[in-house]
Amino acid sequence: MKTVHLTLNPLEKLSHINPEIYGNFSEHLGRCVYDGIFVGEDSDIPNIEGYRSDVIDAFRQIKLPVLRWPGGCFADEYHWRDGIGERSSRKKMINTHWGGLVEDNSFGTHEFMRLCELVGCEPYISGNIGSGTVEELSNWIEYMTFDGVSPMAELRRKNGREQPWKLKYLGVGNESWGCGGNMRPEYYSDLYRRYATYCRNYSGNELFKIASGANADDCNWTEVLMKQVTPWHMKGMSLHYYTLPTGDWSHKGSATEFDEQEYYKTISSTLKMEELVTRHSAVMDRYDPERKVGLIVDEWGTWYDVEPGTNPGFLYQQNTMRDAIVAGINLNIFNAHSARIPMANIAQAVNVLQAILLTEGAKTVKTPTYHVFDLYKQHQDADLIYSHIENELAAEGVPSLSQSASVNAEGDVFVTISNASLTESYTVDIAAAFAGVKSAEGRLLTGEVHEHNTFDEPDRVTIKPLTVNTADGKAAVIIPPCSVAAVTVKL
Ligand code: AHR
Repeated sequence: MKTVHLTLNPLEKLSHINPEIYGNFSEHLGRCVYDGIFVGEDSDIPNIEGYRSDVIDAFRQIKLPVLRWPGGCFADEYHWRDGIGERSSRKKMINTHWGGLVEDNSFGTHEFMRLCELVGCEPYISGNIGSGTVEELSNWIEYMTFDGVSPMAELRRKNGREQPWKLKYLGVGNESWGCGGNMRPEYYSDLYRRYATYCRNYSGNELFKIASGANADDCNWTEVLMKQVTPWHMKGMSLHYYTLPTGDWSHKGSATEFDEQEYYKTISSTLKMEELVTRHSAVMDRYDPERKVGLIVDEWGTWYDVEPGTNPGFLYQQNTMRDAIVAGINLNIFNAHSARIPMANIAQAVNVLQAILLTEGAKTVKTPTYHVFDLYKQHQDADLIYSHIENELAAEGVPSLSQSASVNAEGDVFVTISNASLTESYTVDIAAAFAGVKSAEGRLLTGEVHEHNTFDEPDRVTIKPLTVNTADGKAAVIIPPCSVAAVTVKL
């Protein structure tokens, strides 16, 4: 077994890790919102006010900081007034974009805001500028946040909510270069300025407005927006990038059946996130050297062919240890870039794409990806510190190890390490500059790369304790192949 050295400098604080980096996304797509989160008060499935109790508990356990809603592509077809008022009389429609499901609008603004209250997370609303009007979006903000006397505030009160909600994050359109209107960046920039102007800060509420940013490596989109929109109060700009094993949208590959080569290609494809974030940040740095505008990676994760026998429009896929490695690597990347990235949202929360939870009737499964969010939660609200790990290539140009380290308010250092190699174990020797390790403890998620949790075997892949040896002011852990580890170190 090889020994590698991990060096930390707890005195070199690099940036703050905003909790929202550990955010999620819930679209009206397939069984994410309906079935996955919301089953209604009359359901036999245990629920709190219609929300699945197990899902609420699971969100709370990982300290879910922010949830994006209602889309995705659905957002630019969503008309919020269809989803308020007496549920039984809300408009029904067909969700033409995603699988032709009947959308009965029983989950609307009040239901989403209540969900966020129950979970204790920030709501992130994605506004419709593709097929909605300026007035419609402006009214939605007034409806949610205005405390005074106005038609929208009165309507909200009539619908049972006296006090306005606090809404921080507002997306002004989604994928406006694609499903959100097929716009050019020049046109979108003007549209952003127009829509954003009428999204007002009411009653002490301050909106953090997020422009619809680039698709993957489209740096021109970023360039145009930075040039034309910044003065118009764009606090954030999104970036969407999905990990495809084959790089081919017509044949993405199976979630559970893949060979070693396809595995390493997946990891290579996910590592492109580092390059993308670096390139978009470089463009942003030229216009915004003080990093006032955040890069918001509000859609990321794996995208495979759907599980055989399921509706192709529902994007339901299984989730293996391969996904855990993908999650570990991406979260380490976002931590490393936390000076520019204040928020990221994995796609999606339940039953869609790289979901953290899967449901079937009353059963719920925590996926390996969920466990990575659980392992990493201690990074939330800590400060990123300098760390360096000796590394080597596994295969297909993929480095074996990825790491991230932070220090919290109490001075505890927290280190996360992923090992993408399917064959090599590493002894990782952890040493800190200017201080000796007094004690340390660890947790580990590991398994054969195809291993996953099912409704019959929900705990096949779970977090186990990781033995940490401390001696001579250092800590040492063994990181097996295909694993993600977290170590808390007291100095
Ligand atoms: O997450 C699924 C879809 O992927 C979203 O609706 C869209 O924004 C992206 O293309």
